[in-house]
Amino acid sequence: MYPLLFKTVLARMDPEKAHRLAFALIRAAARLPLARTLVAARFAPRHEELTVDALGLRMPGPFGLAAGFDKNADGIDGLALLGFSHIETGTVTGQPQPGNPPKRLFRLVPDRALINRMGFNNDGSAAVASRLAARAARRSGRADGPVVGVNIGKTKAVPEEEAVADYVTSTRRLAPYADYLVVNVSSPNTPGLRAFQATEALRPLLRAVREAADETVTERRVPLLVKIAPDLADEDVDAVADLAVELGLDGVIATNTTVAREGLGLTAGPSLTSETGGLSGAPLRERSLEVLRRLYARVGGRITLVGVGGITTADDAWQRILAGATLVQGYSAFVYEGPGWARRIHRGLAARLAASPYETLADAVGAAHGEAEAA
Ligand SMILES: Cc1cc2nc3c(=O)[nH]c(=O)nc-3n(C[C@H](O)[C@H](O)[C@H](O)COP(=O)(O)O)c2cc1C
Repeated sequence: MYPLLFKTVLARMDPEKAHRLAFALIRAAARLPLARTLVAARFAPRHEELTVDALGLRMPGPFGLAAGFDKNADGIDGLALLGFSHIETGTVTGQPQPGNPPKRLFRLVPDRALINRMGFNNDGSAAVASRLAARAARRSGRADGPVVGVNIGKTKAVPEEEAVADYVTSTRRLAPYADYLVVNVSSPNTPGLRAFQATEALRPLLRAVREAADETVTERRVPLLVKIAPDLADEDVDAVADLAVELGLDGVIATNTTVAREGLGLTAGPSLTSETGGLSGAPLRERSLEVLRRLYARVGGRITLVGVGGITTADDAWQRILAGATLVQGYSAFVYEGPGWARRIHRGLAARLAASPYETLADAVGAAHGEAEAA
């Protein structure tokens, strides 16, 4: 059903318009009680054995929606109905900003990929915080619902010397509503942002965000993660891993989109592949997996690793878990696979786990490394 809808309707629409339409339908389903019940009954994760305890949080499964789909936290509950165990909202910046001019999102259909140069279009951390506060008030006393991560980034107009203050402002506003907080220093679409992945710049940034989160939220410790680019050199991946351990960070998310185009097995014509921006989807799979493996080899189970980049099937997700990911996320394949995607991934993971020698999902995390060493 979805492949037909994609081919005949969505693929013919401008990608950003198609996104807005699909997202409006998802949000509408969450508002109508009958639709909510029907959608949840069809898509909700319901495999006890996939329950994950990570970052001090309990989730009904490992698979969540990566940042960028719900930039402004206005569709969390609709997206959760589709079976994502966690929703990472954002990237949210200190000030509201329109992002880059359209067109800024491109589908590379034969490659099952996307290129985007959205440029952190978002309502800003003050507006997103009030939206999250309103949601919390509506839901007061309810313990169900997805884990909500909040991903923060730098406002484009803020100079690099003031970047830390910009992240701190967003942290103070958003930490109270974040089940976990992500410092995004890896988007290719904000000039200079990725320079913050260098440890000399990253150390003070992460320290300041940690401090601001601790000062703002005193009744619990908000888990803090950093999201990195697949374009880092291997030594830089190691350096981030070491820094994460040094600072007592809770997790690393690997990876964001890539600026690379070579060697990625792209089949779409040059007119699309030459668009500037971050490439995501299937062509990113191998490099994201490699970065994850490298991180796990360096930090083992000391830090929670989140695998993202090119995940389409349950096999892709399972491979990330074996490589060391406790949580997995995706975005691009949602466009191509449709609303049943998260359910299929969770269902497939339950089957993989049942057929594996591992008793729990936690036992499978990083298991490929043990095998490689034993071999
Ligand atoms: C249109 C689009 C917008 C994105 N926006 C963000 C963002 O705002 N913040 C972020 O950390 N990642 C963003 N991402 C990156 C995704 O979260 C993810 O890391 C990346 O796309 C790789 O996963 P995938 O291959 O499953 O899409 C975006 C990706 C896409 C396709």
